[in-house]
Amino acid sequence: MFPLNRPRRLRTNQRLRDMVCETKLTLDDLIYPLFAVPGNNIAKEVISMPGIFQLSIDKIVNEAKMVRDLGIPAIILFGVPEEKNSEATGAWGKEGIVQRATEAIKREVKDLIVIVDTCVCEYTDHGHCGYLKKDDCTGEVLNDSTLELLKKTAVSQALAGADIIAPSGMMDGFVRSIREKLDQEGFSNIPILSYAAKYASGYYGPFRDAADSSPQFGDRRTYQMDPGNAREALKEVMLDIEEGADMLMVKPALSYMDILWRIKEMTNLPVAAYNVSGEYSMIKAAAANGWIDEKQVTLETLTSFKRAGADLILTYHAKDVARWIQSK
Ligand code: PBG
Ligand code: ZN
Repeated sequence: MFPLNRPRRLRTNQRLRDMVCETKLTLDDLIYPLFAVPGNNIAKEVISMPGIFQLSIDKIVNEAKMVRDLGIPAIILFGVPEEKNSEATGAWGKEGIVQRATEAIKREVKDLIVIVDTCVCEYTDHGHCGYLKKDDCTGEVLNDSTLELLKKTAVSQALAGADIIAPSGMMDGFVRSIREKLDQEGFSNIPILSYAAKYASGYYGPFRDAADSSPQFGDRRTYQMDPGNAREALKEVMLDIEEGADMLMVKPALSYMDILWRIKEMTNLPVAAYNVSGEYSMIKAAAANGWIDEKQVTLETLTSFKRAGADLILTYHAKDVARWIQSK
């Protein structure tokens, strides 16, 4: 009898397909990014990211409640400060926008994990992720002095109530520095989610509108990775594991699924994929034109991250996904 094997047998109806489905996206996997801005009663849509808003603290608290009520377990916070300067004071001051937002959310919203991004590009006047040499115009960030800045920033975020610290600047030794400092200050139980493999990517464009964090000159190629490199990602991951990372991140996600897969193969730490702003905006734009089915493409994309090895997914689609899953 030909054909002997008929794989289509297991695809005959939805019940059966659900039973043999290998990868299921669940809300427990999702982390929703939020942008805090100074002021009151502000909800300003990011033009390049339809559906994503810069929110003042009063509004961000309401948004966080809604996110929790939708069943999304975690948010990651970014801040746009009142003032930017070369010392990035807005990143680590007690009255910093992210510190105040964290405090307010932890106070008002129970059962929501607050992850805080630890970097200074939103807070420096030049938009780079650390200190620059005096009169530098290339953007070659100074590594070791920047670690001091990151340590201060992480501790201030922990003091404000952050549940997880997520250092994102790709400085050498950032995980060890932050781990030691957090431990010294009594925060040995706060996990570190390291942006272990972060590429110098064009997909960050819309985020830089949202966070007002574009470098004013040069680019980030002296600290973020070259898109052509894979073994280097494994090196970064190995170092971060040695330095004490609790979870690892790959960023962006879509163009780097091979990296996700390789990292997953080599480590037993949870791995997160950052479905970045440009990936979100591409789907939103095509869907708005009626060129693709937003729900189908979004769920397919996020499911494929999970299939490639992601345990967690940071995504601007999280609220949409929650609504789609709930109404299924
Ligand atoms: C920088 C940072 C970036 C993103 C989050 N934090 C990238 C960058 O500007 O280089 C991008 C996230 C996104 O595109 O959604 N520390
Ligand atoms: Zn940065």
